[in-house]
Amino acid sequence: MKQVIAALLIIVTIISLIVIAFTINQVGQEEQRLKSDLQYRSTLLAESLKETVEPNFINKSEGYLQTVVERFANKERFAGLGIYDNKNEIIAVSSSIPEATSAASQIVANAMDADKATGDFETLESRKFYILALPLHDDQSVVGALMVVQNAAYIDDRLSEIWRNNLIRLLIQASLLSFATIILIRWIIYAPIRGLVETLRLARMGGTEQSSGRLTSSLFFQPLVKEISNIRNSLLQARISASEEARMRLEKLDSPWTAERLKEFIKDTLKGRNIFMVSNREPYIHYTENGGKINYYFPASGMATAIEPVMQACGGTWIAYGSGDADKLVVDKNDRIKVPPDEPKYTLKRIWLTEEEEIGYYYGFSNEGLWPLCHIAHNRPIFRKEDWEQYVSVNKKFADTVLSEIKDCDRPFVLIQDFHLALVPRMIKAQRPSATIGLFWHIPWPNPESFSICPWKKEILDGMLGTDLLGFHTQFHCNNFIETVGRELESLIDLEQFSITRHNHTSYTKPFPISISFPNGFDKSENQDVKNEKEKLLKDLGIKTKYIGLGIDRLDYTKGILERFKSIEIFLSKYPFYRDKFTFIQIAAPSRTKVKKYRDFAIEVEKEVERINSLYKKNKWTPIVLLEKYHSHEEVQKFYRAADFCLVTSLHDGMNLVAKEFVAARNDEKGVLVLSQFTGASRELKEALIVNPYNAEQTATVIKEALEMKPAEQTKRIRDMREVIKNYNVYRWSAEILKTMVNLG
Ligand code: G6P
Repeated sequence: MKQVIAALLIIVTIISLIVIAFTINQVGQEEQRLKSDLQYRSTLLAESLKETVEPNFINKSEGYLQTVVERFANKERFAGLGIYDNKNEIIAVSSSIPEATSAASQIVANAMDADKATGDFETLESRKFYILALPLHDDQSVVGALMVVQNAAYIDDRLSEIWRNNLIRLLIQASLLSFATIILIRWIIYAPIRGLVETLRLARMGGTEQSSGRLTSSLFFQPLVKEISNIRNSLLQARISASEEARMRLEKLDSPWTAERLKEFIKDTLKGRNIFMVSNREPYIHYTENGGKINYYFPASGMATAIEPVMQACGGTWIAYGSGDADKLVVDKNDRIKVPPDEPKYTLKRIWLTEEEEIGYYYGFSNEGLWPLCHIAHNRPIFRKEDWEQYVSVNKKFADTVLSEIKDCDRPFVLIQDFHLALVPRMIKAQRPSATIGLFWHIPWPNPESFSICPWKKEILDGMLGTDLLGFHTQFHCNNFIETVGRELESLIDLEQFSITRHNHTSYTKPFPISISFPNGFDKSENQDVKNEKEKLLKDLGIKTKYIGLGIDRLDYTKGILERFKSIEIFLSKYPFYRDKFTFIQIAAPSRTKVKKYRDFAIEVEKEVERINSLYKKNKWTPIVLLEKYHSHEEVQKFYRAADFCLVTSLHDGMNLVAKEFVAARNDEKGVLVLSQFTGASRELKEALIVNPYNAEQTATVIKEALEMKPAEQTKRIRDMREVIKNYNVYRWSAEILKTMVNLG
């Protein structure tokens, strides 16, 4: 629309300029014509009057002269006469003309001096007149002058009328033209293009509908329609082949999992049963930009990163807390929105929380209680009764919403994500025993002693045991969970099946190491010029360095960011060769900033960067560059590809998908992953250089090893790790969970 308005403005401005130029010219010509006409008429009149006045003037018959001037006064455009003697004194003057001014006397004097008719336009008493003076003679000598005064105001009136008429015409023309342009754009261009776009969109999303009749009959777009129709047919063909291939692959377990294969698997295995995903964090957060425009972003969340491609592949409904300031503005009356916003594939149902609920349930119990409880990062959990009460009531809110969403579904699949919603499984199971419920715990499960400090440990465990399937990233976390339940609750534990039976309901526990969508769109461009890309990235950031180390995390104390910086400090002190040749780029997305511990941690991180930089900074070289802001998935790809190594030093981490994303981004098969032994990922990515993040000396040595690793070895290691991720990507992860759930219920 903006472009249409701009185009219209340009057209209207051009037309206006043309009309104005034309009017100026027309007005000039008309003015010229009217003035000449008036001058001509005035001269004729003056000449004829002169014959009457001259003899009487010589006879000095003042009374007669006054009668003459009054007789001709104020006749239509003729304003009046004046008679002067040769001393420029008035002898007789029509009472209808404004009092003679010095301008009039000057014209009369000029006429007598030059002994010829002299005239000019003058404004008297704010009215315009034409004054013509003609010398009067006695014999050959000038004895006085006759002044003829004509009204000239009608000339200006006429010129104004021309302007007015032309401007009204311009206004009508501009309106008609704008109207016609909008109609033309709307019916001839916009509507067919919208049809074309819709056709392509449907084809891309797997639809088979034909484009509208108007589109195909639009001659103007025929060549384009033909081409798009070919593209659409090719897409449909490709989709059918992919679907066929995926169906065939279902039988062959060793072939890679893709979105298509997952889709076929779900069709085949779930047989129309609906999937409901439930999590605290939503995959798309809508916010209002400074200018008031609504936009959205994808959150920095490992959970959301993993689940989103699965939802895109299988469709269904994702129920989550609507945390964006513009979230309410874009949902329908049932608080639903189709997402991804640019290419809808599933439904996001938003739940609203009050500020009080968010503070107690999310910031309080989830992030100050359960998060430090489950992560052994030596940060004390805080348990407040008010937070717990909010946690219970918000879990109930989630459960009620899920129950209302599944009320018409026969045997739905409900997949709950993470520690925010530990009580939801029991709440749903109690109302809908026919629902198959899974809960995936994205963070570590601690040992029984650590967990036992939670004042509401029994309630949490009981809530979780409403599930049919409980998933953790590693076998180790499953073991911890089973042991914890054994200590805290009365239940029957089957260690062969890894199941827990309580109140006649059995929950199975199993490890499912979460992964990413790989191969994905980001690794498609085979011929990326990594070197140029790296140079551009460094130039954009104003960094001068030869080697790059990279860290990408939420600003969270479990990620070992301070420990990482310490190892970089030791590395620079032990290996001075790398000073001014090596820069560590830390991308840190602000997280949970309403929690004091997180705010304090962010300040500590900034101070540590300043401290280390002030020790080693030289000329234009900086050892550590901290980019403390959110970066999208697309943006971080450049960093992954430019880095010589990626440093993941979590003190404790369920999986850590940054490690997997780094490996996936390296389609050049270069780069080294340095990985904390306390991440779930270290169980799978064996070709990473494994470190203990608490041992800064060791990490410093490993950094050197990473920077000096031979390209062939880098390739071998990255290649192996890419194979691991390809074999167990997030499509396989979800297929395995769903397959297990189907077998259970
Ligand atoms: C971890 C949790 C996720 C969470 C993410 C980001 O990865 O397992 O559930 O979404 O942190 O934290 P936030 O509190 O911003 O959702």
